Amino acid sequence: MRGDYLRPGRFSAILQGMTIVNLFAESSTRTRSSFELAERRLGSDVLNFASESSSFSKGETLLDTVRNIEAMHVDAVVIRHNAGGTPWFLAQRCDSVIINAGDGRHEHPTQGLLDALTLYEIWHDPSRPERTGFEGKRVTIVGDILHGRVALSNIYALQKLGAEVAVCAPPTLLPRGIESLGVRKFIRLEEALEFSDAMNMLRIQRERQDRGFFPSLAEYARLFGMNHRRLRSLARDILILHPGPINRGIELDSEVADAPCSLILRQVENGVAVRMAALAMLLQGKRSS
Ligand code: CP
Repeated sequence: MRGDYLRPGRFSAILQGMTIVNLFAESSTRTRSSFELAERRLGSDVLNFASESSSFSKGETLLDTVRNIEAMHVDAVVIRHNAGGTPWFLAQRCDSVIINAGDGRHEHPTQGLLDALTLYEIWHDPSRPERTGFEGKRVTIVGDILHGRVALSNIYALQKLGAEVAVCAPPTLLPRGIESLGVRKFIRLEEALEFSDAMNMLRIQRERQDRGFFPSLAEYARLFGMNHRRLRSLARDILILHPGPINRGIELDSEVADAPCSLILRQVENGVAVRMAALAMLLQGKRSS
């Protein structure tokens, strides 16, 4: 049965005896919770590190913090940080396995994997194992491509699986030269809708609203928000994803977020499976070495 291995109590012991630290220096609901569930369901010990009540606030550097935690014999550090490249920086200097749970505007690799898995479950035909199911499929990533770390990880994963990928946003939210990644670019949602089999609607970062990337949230919602009227204007169905958290009424109307074509909660469910897989692959390798 789908998701059977995700049920509480269906534990595996493959990471028993290992210790994993979740170091989230930025807020998170989905990523943090699903990493913790994945770690516990694989039998590891878990340490949740609360940066706001740690010695960060006394000026300790991130590297010193991680090295001190490592001295307690941890096997892996799952890190979210607002500076792009932080996981790479730590991986060069630390002995434990470092896992990126989102670094600044750069990448969010496990989100890219869980988004791809969610589409794979729908598009892959098990009777044709030589095909991924993404061949000939078109996926558009809509919204704040400039600041969102989900876009790059999605582009890499979807292209690897054989999909054609596009981005759609106001020009001010599209990084210069994005076409060099082999993606199509749209600045009108209607054109992107015609192109797409699936759309991943990224969060508009309200905290950056004062910098004038677009005139107002209301105007963004009018031009780039997904609503029932836009979906109905298509002669076919498309799939809607969103990495969360959702701004209802901005990226998506509630009638779309909660519609049968919305894969949002399946994405969240698949987050646990993807993180279990990532932890198992990375840490079993460490054990055998
Ligand atoms: N998708 C995502 O990264 O959500 P959180 O910020 O809640 O972890």
